[in-house]
Amino acid sequence: MLWLQLAALPLVLVTAISPITTTSMPSTSALTTSETLTTIVTTTVDYMNQNCACTNASLFSDNERIAACRKDLLVDVIDTIINNTFEDRLVQLERAAFGYFYYGDVDCDVSVLPEGITHIVGNVNLESCTSLDTANLTIFSTVRNISGELSIKGNDALTTMDGFNELTAVGTYLQITDHDALADLDGFGNFTRTEGKLYLKALGALTNIDGFSSLTHVGDDFYIKDLDLLTDFSGFAELAYIGAKFEINSNDLLTTLGFTKLNHIGKSMTIQNHDELLNVDGLDGITTLGSDLTIKGNEKLANINDLGELSEVYGNVEIKSNPELTDASSLSALNTVEDDVLICGNSGSLDTTSLGSTLATVGSSRCIEISCSSC
Ligand SMILES: *[C@@H]1O[C@H](CO)[C@@H](O)[C@H](O)[C@H]1NC(C)=O
Ligand SMILES: *[C@@H]1O[C@H](CO)[C@@H](O)[C@H](O)[C@H]1NC(C)=O
Ligand SMILES: *[C@@H]1O[C@H](CO)[C@@H](O)[C@H](O)[C@H]1NC(C)=O
Ligand SMILES: *[C@@H]1O[C@H](CO)[C@@H](O)[C@H](O)[C@H]1NC(C)=O
Ligand SMILES: *[C@@H]1O[C@H](CO)[C@@H](O)[C@H](O)[C@H]1NC(C)=O
Repeated sequence: MLWLQLAALPLVLVTAISPITTTSMPSTSALTTSETLTTIVTTTVDYMNQNCACTNASLFSDNERIAACRKDLLVDVIDTIINNTFEDRLVQLERAAFGYFYYGDVDCDVSVLPEGITHIVGNVNLESCTSLDTANLTIFSTVRNISGELSIKGNDALTTMDGFNELTAVGTYLQITDHDALADLDGFGNFTRTEGKLYLKALGALTNIDGFSSLTHVGDDFYIKDLDLLTDFSGFAELAYIGAKFEINSNDLLTTLGFTKLNHIGKSMTIQNHDELLNVDGLDGITTLGSDLTIKGNEKLANINDLGELSEVYGNVEIKSNPELTDASSLSALNTVEDDVLICGNSGSLDTTSLGSTLATVGSSRCIEISCSSC
């Protein structure tokens, strides 16, 4: 309709037209067709006004020269709009296909990030940021990949992690520590892997880690300490691979582990200082440890049956000071220990006989005792 309106416009004399600059042309990337037509009409009329110094009334002249001139101008306007739109579209298509990259580190001043970034090539360090709350994290809501580390530490106002909903991968390190008010990690629903470490510590208000339900792969260490309200790790239901150390330490209410797919731990396994832990359910996929096995200071740990598949430990085995642990026969598959075996300070009735019978290779000292005194 606007188009017809323009075509029906009478004519005006146009001379010495100044070029239309791309900067003066409105971006049409987000416009509808009718808005684009309006832009064409108003821009053309504006330019005719500027370049002819004529009255609006004379723009509507039907003189042939004016009509021809107006047509040239119109072609130029449309051409410019197409060129601008093409640039915009090209950028949009490029971003859709290959991502919108931000190169550089991001710290507390998250406003350095343009909207719509999908990849951060750098580190994100949100540590002790004054007034950082969930709303500030929405700038990350399109980010899918952080090549370096993501460290979120000591932000007292932070209650949720909403804002990382599209994040699937972190390069070197995902660290979330020292938050008293953080109640869940639900913002990490798409987080699938890190080639680096996963480190969760001192999250005293966290009652579940269901937010990590897509995580399958931790390339380096997995470390969980002082999550005092957490009762199990069932939130790590998809976690299958830990490239290096596995350590869980001082999680006060942890009663069971509850992994379902974990089948690889590249280096050591440490389960230490738990008041309520009853078993190690969920570790039955582990057959080999690249380094030490340490199970120590777990006040109520009554069985380690889910270590029944563990056959090779390329380091020390230390099972010590677990006063309720009565049965080590669950380690019956263990046939190789590269270094020393120390089993002591557990329940007075700890049965270690079947452990002794299957161990074929063991390092220099072997100390399977009820009390630790002679070890
Ligand atoms: C001519 O029309 C344009 C666009 O409608 C308007 O912005 C401008 O003020 C008018 N100029 C005069 C002198 O009336
Ligand atoms: C539009 O882009 C083409 C190709 O780059 C160029 O030849 C033409 O001059 C441009 N038109 C305008 C009005 O900028
Ligand atoms: C978080 O957002 C609020 C409100 O926009 C702002 O005042 C505050 O400075 C932001 N904090 C950070 C760390 O960016
Ligand atoms: C994340 O980005 C890095 C490079 O920036 C790339 O090497 C890596 O493959 C990406 N990861 C995923 C899962 O897309
Ligand atoms: C995962 O990302 C998609 C978009 O890529 C989004 O629609 C979905 O809500 C996200 N899932 C979660 C659990 O956040």
